[in-house]
Amino acid sequence: MRTNREWVLTARPTGLEFENCLELREGPLPEPGEGQVRVRNVYVSLEPATRLRMQRETYGPAIPLGAVVTGFTVGVVDASRYPGLREGAVVSIPGGWRAYSVVNGADARELPPGIPLPAWFSALGHIGISAWFGMMEIGQPKPGETVVVSAAAGAVGSQAGQLAKIHGCRVVGIAGSDEKCAWLTGELGFDAAVNYKQPDWEARLREACPKGVDVYFENVGGAVSEPVYALLNKHARVSLCGLISGYNDPGPTPGPKDFSLFLMKRVRLEGFIVSDYFPRANDAYERLVPWVREGRLKWRADVVEGMENLPTAFRKLFVGGNTGKLQVKVSDP
Ligand SMILES: NC(=O)c1ccc[n+]([C@@H]2O[C@H](COP(=O)([O-])OP(=O)(O)OC[C@H]3O[C@@H](n4cnc5c(N)ncnc54)[C@H](OP(=O)(O)O)[C@@H]3O)[C@@H](O)[C@H]2O)c1
Repeated sequence: MRTNREWVLTARPTGLEFENCLELREGPLPEPGEGQVRVRNVYVSLEPATRLRMQRETYGPAIPLGAVVTGFTVGVVDASRYPGLREGAVVSIPGGWRAYSVVNGADARELPPGIPLPAWFSALGHIGISAWFGMMEIGQPKPGETVVVSAAAGAVGSQAGQLAKIHGCRVVGIAGSDEKCAWLTGELGFDAAVNYKQPDWEARLREACPKGVDVYFENVGGAVSEPVYALLNKHARVSLCGLISGYNDPGPTPGPKDFSLFLMKRVRLEGFIVSDYFPRANDAYERLVPWVREGRLKWRADVVEGMENLPTAFRKLFVGGNTGKLQVKVSDP
């Protein structure tokens, strides 16, 4: 008899100590109801924001204790009672940290042909949509402007930076190792990349932005972002995608130390949550899907193998252990 395996949240974690708040449980294989599909998950996408949702209400409710951890997956339809999806279809779903998920067929998105499975979360899906709308619509970069991206060698950052580069900007990445910086300037074509763990990194950042900063794609907040704020030009835009530096802290995330800079420089700061843009996903895919197929947009999947390794893999997000999109392979395609 086939069984299901799923990671359940059993307590609210403190700091990085989330592994003992998660339990891998076995249960019966769920059956799809009318209009639903059962999906055998292949890749589970790991998100920094899941850490916040283990703790408290954010843009959505906290994950209830005893519930399966939420998240996106790609997988293969294993049983279908939804006319729009046949068995064997490859789909992206809000599947959670599970081996098999049952979802409404209407919530499943069939992957376009010619896209390797690990590319979906690396350059498309919620990552590609965040990068597209966060950079192009909120950042509004203009050719020739200087764009800085933090967590630049991560999933969203690596895509957002490439989009600004395609748009004709000077793109500077901030990342946590020399290897990550070399990937950004080598394979991804960033104009410069600065390792914020080097003691002279603030001077390197100033050198890399001789004309100041017009767009800041903010992924981290805190100490790494302060030197970027100081370089913002008049009428700069800050696209506030994430604040990962504070996600393991118990309290609220503090703002910029010198808020007056935003006034004096007439900066426009706008936060966004990707799900607000899901109804417009096709506007992004129209550009992104061909660019991924052609190799114009490059991507890297950081794949950890094995359902049992989900919690240890999740830690990598908060210690800079991943390059590109962190995902866990839980079955063979
Ligand atoms: N607004 C939305 O709807 C939305 C959607 C998706 C993601 N996001 C946000 O986008 C950001 C990136 O998410 P992602 O999924 O693409 O993850 P990711 O960038 O692939 O992984 C997280 C990276 O953040 C960096 N980091 C961790 N702690 C840090 C700290 N204290 N200071 C500086 N850098 C730190 C690490 O790289 P280093 O080695 O460079 O430190 C780590 O690899 C997160 O803040 C996430 O919440 C927002």
